[in-house]
Amino acid sequence: MKRIKINRLLESDAAINKIIVKGWVRTKRDSKEFSFMELNDGSCLKNIQIIADSRLENYAEIASVTTGSAVSVEGKLIESPGKGQRWEIHADRVDVISVAPEDYPLQKKRHSDEFLRTIAHLRPRTNKYGAAFRIRSEMAFAIHKFYHEKGFRYLHTPIITGSDCEGAGEMFRVTTLNPLEIVAFDRLKVSKSELLPDSNAAKMDIKQDFFGQEANLTVSGQLSAEMFALALGDVYTFGPTFRAENSNTSRHVAEFWMVEPEMAFCDLAGNMDHAEELVKYLTLHAVTHCSEDIALFTDFVDKELKDLLDKIINETYERVSYYDAVDLLLKSGKKFEYKVVNGNDLQSEHERFLAEEYFKKPVFLMNYPKTIKPFYMRLNDDGRTVAAVDLLVPRIGELIGGSQREERLQMLEQRMEEMGLSKESYWWYLDSRRFGSVPHAGFGMGFERLLMLITGITNIRDVIPFPRTPGNIDF
Ligand code: 4AD
Ligand code: MG
Repeated sequence: MKRIKINRLLESDAAINKIIVKGWVRTKRDSKEFSFMELNDGSCLKNIQIIADSRLENYAEIASVTTGSAVSVEGKLIESPGKGQRWEIHADRVDVISVAPEDYPLQKKRHSDEFLRTIAHLRPRTNKYGAAFRIRSEMAFAIHKFYHEKGFRYLHTPIITGSDCEGAGEMFRVTTLNPLEIVAFDRLKVSKSELLPDSNAAKMDIKQDFFGQEANLTVSGQLSAEMFALALGDVYTFGPTFRAENSNTSRHVAEFWMVEPEMAFCDLAGNMDHAEELVKYLTLHAVTHCSEDIALFTDFVDKELKDLLDKIINETYERVSYYDAVDLLLKSGKKFEYKVVNGNDLQSEHERFLAEEYFKKPVFLMNYPKTIKPFYMRLNDDGRTVAAVDLLVPRIGELIGGSQREERLQMLEQRMEEMGLSKESYWWYLDSRRFGSVPHAGFGMGFERLLMLITGITNIRDVIPFPRTPGNIDF
């Protein structure tokens, strides 16, 4: 007989005579005649109560079971007389698979997020993190569902790349040079400190490296996605991206997942329409398909979560230009930790103020100064701004960053020159503007930021299974 998952059992509309469930014991209490176990198998938030009769032949062993232990239970699904649950299981047989020792770290009390991060291998066994990671799984599926329904093609963009999309100097170097190479370098009379794979040392003999040129982990699949949008029309990529930002904030990790749609024959307005549709679709999907897990976050993490999610689904998102937003911030009278400077990038406190306090809903900021944006964004007619767009949302700040792309070869080359980028190394990108160039646009949405929005979790480390941050690569 196959095991049945607890989420399926709890949906049953009739008693079942013979079932097998397997899972981990959350709590247990014993009376003279019975042992009552709360069993969880990770399939849903709820436990199912197992009632084991003292007449079972291995009752002594069953009675010794502790929190965290794994058991297999064969028995009957019976309507429960107890309050708060519809079903319970009367065990005909309980096999103890493995007993957790007394020092099992997840005893029945509330643990801090900080503590749970130190046991990232066990934290998904808690209610909160079980819920968070079930939602994560469901939302990844919803992204593919959305794009499949809209007829977008799913594109796998490379993880290892030779080009820097964002030009922000936040790349992780990929190299196969090893200490033996140091010997080779020694012959070139390079000092030891220069031999570490920083750019200077490696450039000296980059031809010996695996790819014969500098290689990095991708910070965005955008440039590759553009190539395919200009062939297949509408594409998206959804995968891990890497940034060596040395900032320890609650919104940045070094490895995160990004959804990046890229659409041919699309302008900035179309890009925003698409972003709004995506965020609404995903939020509605979460509310509909993860209601039990989201209820936990509403009860224990953020009482206003449900209201916020309703807003995300129902409101029309605001659209304002960067300069108007800066005006609003300057006139707001609000004391910020960082000063608002016209022409500079906004800080997340500024972004949050706009979405959370001023507009009280998601807001698109458009047309940023070209000086603070990457080379590929389309220059506006004013010559000083580009067709960039960020979507700011309450609690998080920036959820999405995107733009209409510069499709005019000359303009693009001019921007690259201005920014000191080598046209030679982007020859293939420039070719896409040479042969049948069309207006196109796209954006990137941080998947973890979306999960923070949907769960109310305030630290990005808590929505990714094994967070990578400066100085931390445990697990
Ligand atoms: O705004 P970003 O840097 O945009 C790009 O990379 C574009 N090339 C995307 C595109 O147009 N196809 O990043 C996009 C989003 C941000 O809005 C944010 O949600 C998320 O990625 N993000 C991060 N999430 C977690 N940790 C980090 N260090 C992040 N950096 C960016
Ligand atoms: Mg951005």
